[in-house]
Amino acid sequence: MELELKRVTKEYGSKIACDRISFSFQRGVYGLLGANGAGKTTLMRMMCGVLAPTSGTIRFNNIDVSHEDYRDVLGYLPQDFGYYPEFTAMDFLLYIAALKGLPKPQAKEKMWDLLEQVSLEKEAKKKIKTFSGGMKQRLGIAQSMLNNPQILILDEPTAGLDPKERVRFRNLISRLGTDRIILLSTHIVSDVEHIAGTILVMKDGTLVHQGTREELIKAIDGKVWECTLPQSEADSLFENYSVINLRQESEARTFLRLIANEKPCASAMSVQATLEDLYLYYFSEVSKS
Ligand SMILES: Nc1ncnc2c1ncn2[C@@H]1O[C@H](COP(=O)(O)OP(=O)(O)OP(=O)(O)O)[C@@H](O)[C@H]1O
Ligand SMILES: [Mg+2]
Repeated sequence: MELELKRVTKEYGSKIACDRISFSFQRGVYGLLGANGAGKTTLMRMMCGVLAPTSGTIRFNNIDVSHEDYRDVLGYLPQDFGYYPEFTAMDFLLYIAALKGLPKPQAKEKMWDLLEQVSLEKEAKKKIKTFSGGMKQRLGIAQSMLNNPQILILDEPTAGLDPKERVRFRNLISRLGTDRIILLSTHIVSDVEHIAGTILVMKDGTLVHQGTREELIKAIDGKVWECTLPQSEADSLFENYSVINLRQESEARTFLRLIANEKPCASAMSVQATLEDLYLYYFSEVSKS
């Protein structure tokens, strides 16, 4: 099983939303991490065959994703998924199943199976307009799974989930991820940190990092420091380094967590780097390298 992207580019006029992205997806869970406007949705829509690249190719097992057979193996949860508020969860899944061409008896069986998997079986007969954001997201995931897809693409599936629902979501993905390619986008590091075997970091239309959590963290290993300093010294470090976190400890002292190649001040202690550090380093205005 291979989904292969070769120099995939999407231009909107002079704006390059995705810039020569090459990557090969095999079985497993992938997290696509990037700030607003990084190009995640654009890339995912191209991977689903709903948006044509300006140049480059996307092939699943050597067949272009624009081929209609690809739809049979694909499940997709778009970022702006349109629900029908007056439909019940059950009506909705049966409706999508019909659109996907599932025979009715099979659709019913699959519907109950999926409602159970996303813990919505008790809400099956309730109207979607009464659902919380998290319940809608879980229903969105259920619809994407109706055809038991080999490739599952979820665009910001955790948006609007509360902490308990996030845990439930992670467990669901871990269960689903054993025998297919799952790609999910987010800008929340903790959503992918523990469920995605491979993390792709996207910035300004390009993949700036890819690898396991440990591999990514290596990029800043030994470069994360913490210190607590008088205000004036803290100000000077703030000017010169990439500060990840800053906290006023008392009127006179400021705590800093920052990235520096060398020890930035005498009292600085080297601390274990996290994926959150790497992400903030890339996506906030802190990067001063
Ligand atoms: N149809 C379009 N026409 C013109 N520009 C577009 C279009 N769609 C996206 N863009 C631009 O392409 C860039 C990438 O957008 P995209 O929606 O892929 O980002 P994203 O990473 O999904 O962001 P978010 O986290 O906000 O969902 C943005 O600068 C956006 O303004
Ligand atoms: Mg998006």
